[in-house]
Amino acid sequence: MDITFLLNGETVTTQTSPTATLLDWLREGRGLRGTKEGCNEGDCGACTVMVTDDHGPRALNACILFMGQLSGKAVRTVEGIAAPDGTPHPVQTAMVDHHGSQCGFCTPGFVVSMATAHLNGRTDHDDQLAGNLCRCTGYAPIVRAAQAVAATPIPGWMHDTAPGGATPHAPTSADDLAAWYLDHPDGTLIAGATDVGLWVTKQFRDLGDVAFLHACTDLQQIDVTEGAIRFGAGVTMTRVLDAVADDYPSYADMIRRYGSVQVRNAATIGGNIANGSPIGDNPPALIALDAVLHLRRGDVVRDVALADYFLSYGRQSRQPGEFVIGVTIPRGCHDHRVYKLSKRFDQDISAVCGAFDVTVTDGTVTRARIAFGGMAGVPKRASAVESALIGRPWTDATVSAALPAFADDFQPLSDMRASAAYRLTTAQNMLRRYHADLSGQTVDVRKVRA
Ligand SMILES: Cc1cc2nc3c(=O)[nH]c(=O)nc-3n(C[C@H](O)[C@H](O)[C@H](O)COP(=O)(O)OP(=O)(O)OC[C@H]3O[C@@H](n4cnc5c(N)ncnc54)[C@H](O)[C@@H]3O)c2cc1C
Ligand code: FES
Ligand code: FES
Repeated sequence: MDITFLLNGETVTTQTSPTATLLDWLREGRGLRGTKEGCNEGDCGACTVMVTDDHGPRALNACILFMGQLSGKAVRTVEGIAAPDGTPHPVQTAMVDHHGSQCGFCTPGFVVSMATAHLNGRTDHDDQLAGNLCRCTGYAPIVRAAQAVAATPIPGWMHDTAPGGATPHAPTSADDLAAWYLDHPDGTLIAGATDVGLWVTKQFRDLGDVAFLHACTDLQQIDVTEGAIRFGAGVTMTRVLDAVADDYPSYADMIRRYGSVQVRNAATIGGNIANGSPIGDNPPALIALDAVLHLRRGDVVRDVALADYFLSYGRQSRQPGEFVIGVTIPRGCHDHRVYKLSKRFDQDISAVCGAFDVTVTDGTVTRARIAFGGMAGVPKRASAVESALIGRPWTDATVSAALPAFADDFQPLSDMRASAAYRLTTAQNMLRRYHADLSGQTVDVRKVRA
């Protein structure tokens, strides 16, 4: 089946496999080798390309972007960042002027990220570039280059318009998807492909029948009412971050450390829940908010408390042919906090992620929702800790007395990210941190000073 999209301003049509990656297709199919392969798993940004669709231009990692996700979109690679007559883009000139490149391997990826951020008017350069790794130049000259061009006009050739059109291999609504999945219960759903992409690039799996979800626009809505926010399963983490920033700034702050710009631009909230990972970062944050998950199989829609969705490692409350259509959280839980602990501050998977929402009435704890990722085979509520708090005064003494209950709730594993003992201690420390946080103390690692 034909896949048609704009590539550096020109329409291209290809019959390549929909589960070939854009990176392989560019380098091997088109001879466009400016886009580099570093890690081939979304971590280094050497393969960054700019993709424009109805949501605007965004940086994505080509190594975990399938060709089937591109129909009707516009792709710009590093070869298309300079003007058609060869005039460099201002970020390219600035990279030269500010000595932003040494060996140069990372440079095409940086240039595409910088040009996309420039186009989008983003000046939070550290965040915008956290998904691009450089091993030799160091970030200071690169960030100086980004700063130098922030006020420079956007070159005209950077404005792509997505051509739209047919999306083969992709249902175009939740109804279509429901019918397809009933017919193909063993098929693979592909949303942002930030997990599924690695099944192909690292595990060399044949995905069999696939359905890409990006054309189901009815699964990409964010509905905000006075009392609730409902996210369609296909909402990207970039959009979740923006949507929760006012109501839940601590959750938004955690999402800022969720992968990188490129990962958040692809990864969906539905994929992060459906993959059932014990270290996914949304589930603890959402469980502490009493989130409700919406599932659909054929015409049957049902709701399940997210806390009850994760049954055991690799097992969830989801039938063959059933898929996630969305998740709803309440508004107004002002004391909701999320703490992510990982070895590297930016762009790293959590060792432990803790989320808290404790209600204190007249000095006494009247309600507690505490959930953790990385502490068990599933994201899980800390029910024993909650019980140890409820009905008691919200004091240091109560918090200290509740700490042993963590061992009743969790028997964490030791792995390459953390030992069991470290996980248990840091989870306990997060409760202390939460208490300090609500008491007005500074607990943000970027603000604490010795
Ligand atoms: C470099 C990198 C960094 C990462 N960092 C983080 C991080 O910091 N925190 C974190 O939590 N995760 C992280 N991840 C993991 C990943 O980004 C997330 O789990 C992501 O949200 C998955 O969403 P997706 O849309 O890409 O899912 P996909 O890869 O498309 O799908 C994941 C799984 O969910 C299924 N699926 C997708 N949508 C649905 C649906 N609507 N209904 C039913 N099943 C569905 C798919 O079939 C598949 O089994 C990272 C990944 C990479 C590559
Ligand atoms: S090659 Fe490293 S992110 Fe794609
Ligand atoms: S210039 Fe060598 S990796 Fe960045």
